[in-house]
Amino acid sequence: MPDNAPKLFQPLKLQRLTLPNRIVVSPMCMYSAHDGLANDFHLVHLGQFALAGAGLIFTEAAAVSPEGRISPEDLGLWSDDHIVPLGRVTDFIHAHGSLVGIQLAHAGRKASTYAPWRGKGAVTPEHGGWGVIGPDTQSFAPIFPTPSAMTSVDIKRVIQDFVSAAQRAEMAGFDAVEVHAAHGYLLHQFLSPLSNSRTDEYGGSFENRTRFVMDVVRAVRGGWPMHKPLFVRLSATDWAEGGWDLEQTVKLAGLLSREGVDVLDVSSGGLTTAQQITPGPGYQVPFASAVKVAVSGLDVMAVGMIESPEQAEAILQNGEADLIALGRPFLGDPHWSQFAAQKLGADLEMVPQYQRGHRLD
Ligand SMILES: Cc1cc2nc3c(=O)[nH]c(=O)nc-3n(C[C@H](O)[C@H](O)[C@H](O)COP(=O)(O)O)c2cc1C
Repeated sequence: MPDNAPKLFQPLKLQRLTLPNRIVVSPMCMYSAHDGLANDFHLVHLGQFALAGAGLIFTEAAAVSPEGRISPEDLGLWSDDHIVPLGRVTDFIHAHGSLVGIQLAHAGRKASTYAPWRGKGAVTPEHGGWGVIGPDTQSFAPIFPTPSAMTSVDIKRVIQDFVSAAQRAEMAGFDAVEVHAAHGYLLHQFLSPLSNSRTDEYGGSFENRTRFVMDVVRAVRGGWPMHKPLFVRLSATDWAEGGWDLEQTVKLAGLLSREGVDVLDVSSGGLTTAQQITPGPGYQVPFASAVKVAVSGLDVMAVGMIESPEQAEAILQNGEADLIALGRPFLGDPHWSQFAAQKLGADLEMVPQYQRGHRLD
């Protein structure tokens, strides 16, 4: 790719991995697995993004334990049985020139809830619901499950669940792992003073509230090959008075960089029903940019209402981020990468079968 090519289509080296371009498919729950197992849906859904040359494709949040699923239909990586079905997906994506990552997650107090089109709030035991855990006993909302406060044994077990899942991700052929510490799920619940009222070494001060995330990240880095990149997704702010905010995010980003995190994926919100957000085009980009300015040794991924190729290119050209993740635009147009190359006049390496694809707009 020539140096004057659009930045969106320039490669990025992360550890020993070279992303062919800066376009990333953001993790998106599909609520389509049985017992956490990937199936034909996941193969087709994730595979389609590779056919049109997305640089890196993330799976949806994959639960590190059955209790950590958001819904009964979540993807999972808590047992060796999950490895081979996911291996079909990684093989297909690699055979068609893209790279593939998996997001590892535990939903904490937001677990055991219905998939959006099946219902609202806590899943009843008759529908396969289960008891959930969190930093304390506060629920996310009255219709959500009431968690039991995690003991130190629970904390150790969840850390080990993340490590085991990362090791299985390696066996399944993934190129990257992302630790999900955003959107009000378990790790974010520990970070925010609004959801963590613990009085032990995991609650209270910034150092204490970040301890669980740091423990998980350190342990995952130890169990995931050093030559493969580790991503962490954070919510840069809770958008609520007294919550987690950008200043703490920047401080934590510096600490994560020193733990060997390669990319910070900067999202926001999801922790509290009291959040006040006015979303608009690129509304989370200033958070990514703040991290990029303040923290060295990390690449930064921007996400959130970045829809046009020109907008994505401008973010990279302005030095606000190093990678662009898109979610809903890829659901609307799974071949967004091909469309973006056409719009920006870039050469995109992609499968020959689709090279004649052309949009008139
Ligand atoms: C259907 C759907 C499922 C999502 N599931 C996840 C998920 O599993 N993990 C995650 O971190 N974010 C999830 N998100 C958030 C997206 O990754 C992304 O951050 C968000 O949609 C904003 O980007 P966009 O405006 O490009 O869609 C989901 C979003 C959508 C639309």
